[in-house]
Amino acid sequence: MKHDTLIQAMNQQLNREVTTFLRYMLQAASIKGAAQEPVRQMYLAEVADEVGHAQYLANQIHMLGGTPELKPDLTAPPDGVLAMLAADVEQERIDVANYVKLAAQAEAAGLYSLKMKMEAQAADEDEHAQEMRRLLG
Ligand SMILES: [Fe+2]
Ligand SMILES: [Fe+2]
Repeated sequence: MKHDTLIQAMNQQLNREVTTFLRYMLQAASIKGAAQEPVRQMYLAEVADEVGHAQYLANQIHMLGGTPELKPDLTAPPDGVLAMLAADVEQERIDVANYVKLAAQAEAAGLYSLKMKMEAQAADEDEHAQEMRRLLG
């Protein structure tokens, strides 16, 4: 298939997104206490962002002639807000790097709207990491 390598990379990132929104949903559900409410609200808001990222990738995989293949990582999230935030900052950093790479692959393939959207999703993930770093203090 013409865009095999790109589709494969997009499927890997789709699975990271699905893994992330499932984890953030469970983490938001587990957080209690007035002091931790900002963290819970941040995770709830980011579930919606990550679902949007996953939807975009799934649509584009189909548009390129591929098939989304879901194999999310269902490892239980860590206990405690600080452990969650520290682990997720690192995952968001990996997502930024993946989207920068996907943008370059899309540009090389002449897929300019995909390239720009991958850059926008890189920026979203960078903002998520910044919000988490702020909550870590
Ligand atoms: Fe995302
Ligand atoms: Fe994110």
